[in-house]
Amino acid sequence: MSSYHALVPAAGSGSRMGALSGRAVPKQYLPLAGQPLIWHALATLCATPAIAHVFVVLAPDDTLWPAPAMASLGPKLRVLRCGGDTRAQSVTNGLRAMAEELGDAPGIGDEWVLVHDAARPCLTVAMVENLIAEVGEDDAGGLLAVPVADTLKRADENGRVHQTVPREGLWQAQTPQMFRHRLLLDALDYAPQVTDEASAIETLGLLPRLVAADASNLKVTWPLDLQLAEWILQNRDKGKTL
Ligand code: CTP
Ligand code: MG
Repeated sequence: MSSYHALVPAAGSGSRMGALSGRAVPKQYLPLAGQPLIWHALATLCATPAIAHVFVVLAPDDTLWPAPAMASLGPKLRVLRCGGDTRAQSVTNGLRAMAEELGDAPGIGDEWVLVHDAARPCLTVAMVENLIAEVGEDDAGGLLAVPVADTLKRADENGRVHQTVPREGLWQAQTPQMFRHRLLLDALDYAPQVTDEASAIETLGLLPRLVAADASNLKVTWPLDLQLAEWILQNRDKGKTL
């Protein structure tokens, strides 16, 4: 039986959110549907039976981690204070720290790590289970993603259309993105400048599997996203289909 662990980078500053909203609090700690934003993704990952541990990566100088609110999530949740200057660095540091935390177990390199943005609060257990089932034992791993719906335009330097980019075959990458521990660490050491884990794996010549999710697994980046996420969480709670 394979083992699965979640790794949640949460060492960002939320600059795009803060610049527009005027709020200095990093977005992962903004209030959302009665909890800190990050609580929602952590609660989903902790509630997924297949996942053994949920590691959250905080900035070393984080003073806002709301320990009391997190206590209810139970013993799967582990806090690592080793965030870096970029998302990729936070993930790399987290991969090393989680191996240490698990006692450098010899088999850790073959275990699966699901990396999930703290800023995607609307993840569901069903999405996580679907990802795990679709990737199976495929060594290239995989990620949740959504086929692009809109026609895409490349802009010129004057803000005019330079080119229309055919959307056929284009997907928007989401998280979780799941890979075996050793492979992901090697890939990120080799390609530290990437913006998601799949890109690092691709530089090794592997082809991660795209697993269809839906737009409700949005990343909270701009102030409007916070309202959308709140609506999704509250309407789901009322049992509506989403
Ligand atoms: N992240 C991280 N370490 C960093 C930068 C980002 O752990 N040095 C995390 C964020 O906390 C977030 C995820 O990576 O959970 C996705 O990043 P993003 O949405 O870009 O968040 P921020 O970097 O916080 O936002 P911004 O880019 O607007 O500053
Ligand atoms: Mg960022």
